[in-house]
Amino acid sequence: MSFLLCPPSVFVIEDKYEILVNATANGIIAVRIGDQLYYEENSGVLSSEKDYAKIRLPQAILNTAKEYEIVYKKTIDRKGYYSKMAEPQTEKFTFKPMEKTEKVNMYHIADVHYRFADAAPLASFFGDDLDVLVVNGDIGEVETVQNYLDVCKFVGEISQGKIPVIFARGNHDTRGKLAERFTDFFPCNGKDTFFWFELGTLSGVVLDCGEDKVDTHLEYGAMEYFKADSPEVYGGVNNFSPFRQRELQFLKGLQRRKKDALFFAVSHICPVHTTVHIGGAFDIERECYAAWNTQLERLGTKFMLTGHMHRAYMVMPDDERSTLAHNYPVVVGSAVQKETIIGAAVTVSKESMEVKFTDKNGNITETHTVKL
Ligand SMILES: [Fe+2]
Repeated sequence: MSFLLCPPSVFVIEDKYEILVNATANGIIAVRIGDQLYYEENSGVLSSEKDYAKIRLPQAILNTAKEYEIVYKKTIDRKGYYSKMAEPQTEKFTFKPMEKTEKVNMYHIADVHYRFADAAPLASFFGDDLDVLVVNGDIGEVETVQNYLDVCKFVGEISQGKIPVIFARGNHDTRGKLAERFTDFFPCNGKDTFFWFELGTLSGVVLDCGEDKVDTHLEYGAMEYFKADSPEVYGGVNNFSPFRQRELQFLKGLQRRKKDALFFAVSHICPVHTTVHIGGAFDIERECYAAWNTQLERLGTKFMLTGHMHRAYMVMPDDERSTLAHNYPVVVGSAVQKETIIGAAVTVSKESMEVKFTDKNGNITETHTVKL
């Protein structure tokens, strides 16, 4: 029996991969490429009292090797002196780097809400020709560690540790007792769940709008009638407003490194199309999101992949339904239906993008061709 709970997930962050490995018991986990061992960074101490690790390494190393090995030593007894670990066990994985320059196949899944059996078949739409998997938030509220492990298994099993995965947090992933532990498992810089990335001829940003309503909403435990006087006492469990401002500072400081790469944004909630109900509870942070958008336009964003609306559709520039004007197309790439979840099969080239909304049986429900 394998020492692994599931295949690893190779997350994309900046010009690195962050490989998430889940084992069945506590142990020391490493990734070996050639003669080099990579561990989770922990200021020199190797973690042995948990059953997972997020291991960061340069993309170029794995892109060249096209294979990696997980090395695992089960913890017998970690002590101040003479710790005991079991003999190493290993498992090999092949990796397919994103080397295409035209017709890059990305599959976008969002709003799974724990319907793994309905969502998993979506990813096989492109078969072996899938280049990038995008998992864009709202897998669901997190009350237990098992909830996280279920997500790790879902992503590991559909990507098989073989293709790069772009992973973003959704607003439902910020809910529940253990929501604060998201960054233990999923790609982040420190505790920041927003970051830039490069991937072959692609580059972009993963953004995180946090919740879909204001921090003082009663749903988040805030006692609204007291908030004006004592927000620190009567506020709820969220503080996303300053987080969004920090994200704005990140965007302001961001410079494109590869000028010829196709730049796009991935965000569970679309900051320029937060809702179609103008002035409603979800129409929030217009000023901040307008400033985000100024930066996205400056960076030359060609398109944005989003979910959250539970309906699959395209939002083109000048679309009157948007809360803010934008010059790039937005793919709202997931629908939640009784029998199936709909995802988006997106094929991008330099000049154009083809978007197919598909169901769990591989049926195409809509096709859109967009000039970029
Ligand atoms: Fe959502």
